[in-house]
Amino acid sequence: MRIVEIRNVRAEAARVRTFFFEDKICSSAKPGQFVMVWIPGVDEIPMSLSSTHGESSSVTVKEVGEATRALCKKRKGDLIGLRGPFGNHFKMVGGEALVVGGGTGTAPLMMLTRKLLDEGVKMAIIEGAKTRGELLFFDQLSKLSAEPDVEVFFTTDDGSYGVKGLATDAAEEILSSRKFDMIYSCGNEAMTRKVYFLAQKHKIPLQASLERIMLCAMGICGSCVIGKYRVCKDGPVFDQNQLKEVEEELGRFKRDFKGERVPI
Ligand SMILES: Cc1cc2nc3c(=O)[nH]c(=O)nc-3n(C[C@H](O)[C@H](O)[C@H](O)COP(=O)(O)OP(=O)(O)OC[C@H]3O[C@@H](n4cnc5c(N)ncnc54)[C@H](O)[C@@H]3O)c2cc1C
Ligand code: FES
Repeated sequence: MRIVEIRNVRAEAARVRTFFFEDKICSSAKPGQFVMVWIPGVDEIPMSLSSTHGESSSVTVKEVGEATRALCKKRKGDLIGLRGPFGNHFKMVGGEALVVGGGTGTAPLMMLTRKLLDEGVKMAIIEGAKTRGELLFFDQLSKLSAEPDVEVFFTTDDGSYGVKGLATDAAEEILSSRKFDMIYSCGNEAMTRKVYFLAQKHKIPLQASLERIMLCAMGICGSCVIGKYRVCKDGPVFDQNQLKEVEEELGRFKRDFKGERVPI
């Protein structure tokens, strides 16, 4: 484990903060990979990398419980521990990509969109949140939409910004009139399940990043299992063939902290 100093903190939305730190190993991470962040005296939790620029990297954290609350209280100059980066990553394809993100699932997709832009891939990005106040990376995505080959669509459940409805509703609409070479997605598993069926219906390849409870992040403890896969080691990014193998479980069951299969 490395100990790093928090160099900057940016508020993204209510109860969501991005923490920037310098770490040589993270600077060569690929989009979709995650780190285990140790909050001294509290816990160690998995977080996707949301950016890497030179030696500076970041994680974007939503407060949902004890560990994330403690992390969100950290300020510039405070210390955290890091293990990783772990897991596989999103693979690049040329042509045109549809990127679908929900909530903090947008974090790894931000790193991906930068890479896609560098590779000259055309993109339609859909970001969904419950309300306008919960849309993450709003300024960055709005700026990105000024690029010639990038379109950005926002959806909110309550209609307070963009199109009223779910990110998957907007994905369904766009897929009914356009063809893409790849769909990339990250969000809660219920969203991923819908995106998976949309990709199947429209016969478009999919790469989706999954989130499960993770303790070791090294394929040992089994807490992150889905079907025959361990998300920390075999994923977190899975293609549509792998998702087909876990279709029965995807978005419907997860493992709790005791390793028991429980409905989502
Ligand atoms: C690969 C991966 C990448 C992630 N990336 C991000 C990210 O970029 N930003 C972000 O805000 N969150 C991310 N998460 C989720 C984040 O790890 C959990 O929100 C965090 O662990 C919750 O800890 P807590 O003590 O605050 O909450 P708890 O009170 O422990 O739990 C609150 C909720 O979080 C879930 N959870 C708890 N512990 C874990 C765990 N170890 N792994 C996964 N889920 C857990 C629980 O099922 C529960 O629903 C990611 C998870 C994974 C697996
Ligand atoms: S987190 Fe332990 S096996 Fe995946």
